[in-house]
Amino acid sequence: MKTLHVNLGERSYDILIADRLLDRAGEEIKAVCPQARRLFVVTDSNVFPLYLTRLANSLTAAGFEMTALTVPAGESSKCVSELSGLWEKMLASGLTRTDAVVALGGGVVGDLAGFAAATALRGVDFVQIPTTLLAQVDSSVGGKVAIDLRAGKNLAGAFWQPKLVLMDPDTLNTLPDATFADGMAEVIKYGCIRDKEFFDFLRAHPTRAEIMANIESILYQCCDIKRSVVEEDERDTGSRMVLNFGHTIGHAYELSGHYEQWTHGQAVAAGMCAAAKLGVTLGLTPPELPGQIEAILVPLGLPTAIPCDGDTYAAAIGRDKKGAGADITLVLLDRMGHAVLRKLPKATLLQSIGALPM
Ligand code: NAD
Ligand code: GLY
Repeated sequence: MKTLHVNLGERSYDILIADRLLDRAGEEIKAVCPQARRLFVVTDSNVFPLYLTRLANSLTAAGFEMTALTVPAGESSKCVSELSGLWEKMLASGLTRTDAVVALGGGVVGDLAGFAAATALRGVDFVQIPTTLLAQVDSSVGGKVAIDLRAGKNLAGAFWQPKLVLMDPDTLNTLPDATFADGMAEVIKYGCIRDKEFFDFLRAHPTRAEIMANIESILYQCCDIKRSVVEEDERDTGSRMVLNFGHTIGHAYELSGHYEQWTHGQAVAAGMCAAAKLGVTLGLTPPELPGQIEAILVPLGLPTAIPCDGDTYAAAIGRDKKGAGADITLVLLDRMGHAVLRKLPKATLLQSIGALPM
């Protein structure tokens, strides 16, 4: 088993990574939530038939009473009506302030259940059991929890750190290839922003089989990078922004496809290529670097470019919450494995990506 400790004072917690950890979840949760009697498990309609019985057996064997709630799979469950359904059911099931909420699923379940845990009874303990690659390397770590509003994604939320994150890499074997590839976009991002050696390792191991053969150490390295970023800037007021490499331009791609044509991972993949090319245009990024990123994305079936018109770029960039006022702060690479934050006028960004005439 690999263990990481996220050091955030009284909000510190461990990330445990091991195959078959799902079958030991009860004893691990007991160790961090010793007062809890009842656990409220939130999962989705795809994950429930695959993994809920194993988790339930482990929780019951550890002496917990368990209530499970299944939401429909997909982003649309990150909404006010599912959230209020969770609140009502949690309270009806007898949840008290010493009990805990457990998220079993991908980032949708983690964000929704985490926001319910942050707000029910003014906050109860929360445990993440992420089952997608994206959730294991990104959304389950760092404490951001949220639902979507009509005004945009993740616009109502909180910082609510989990008490424990349990990653069972075995659960990744049931992911469709496209969902696995989505998570790989974030894995590659970590190499780009913080670790050239890790990027080179990923380049040398491009297939899903090779990645799964090394999955424990890949998860460890990604979570270790996210841990260090979050420890430095828990509330996302500055340096945590490096995690958004590829995301600002990626938001424009997600918008251009009405959040349906392109998944988040696909948009981030093409967004990283665009950000790398932008860095070259601005004289910051070595010219060979965009090609290196493209070469690692292609075998995974991830796009290296997504068509987007100027109005959509402007709408996404104007609305980007990182881009208050006339300037925008972008995450760029001055070399592979090293991200820097650069403030530039939004008009310069739009001109450089061809969305505005020079
Ligand atoms: P998701 O939760 O929708 O999962 C993707 C699909 O995989 C779903 O259909 C799900 O049912 C299915 N699935 C999950 N685990 C499975 C398994 N082991 N086997 C088979 N199928 C499985 O999406 P996601 O990509 O995990 O997460 C995306 C969400 O995460 C978005 O809402 C995004 O905003 C959020 N997010 C949050 C953070 C954060 O810091 N909180 C960071 C990144 C993304
Ligand atoms: N996924 C970006 C962050 O956690 O800040």
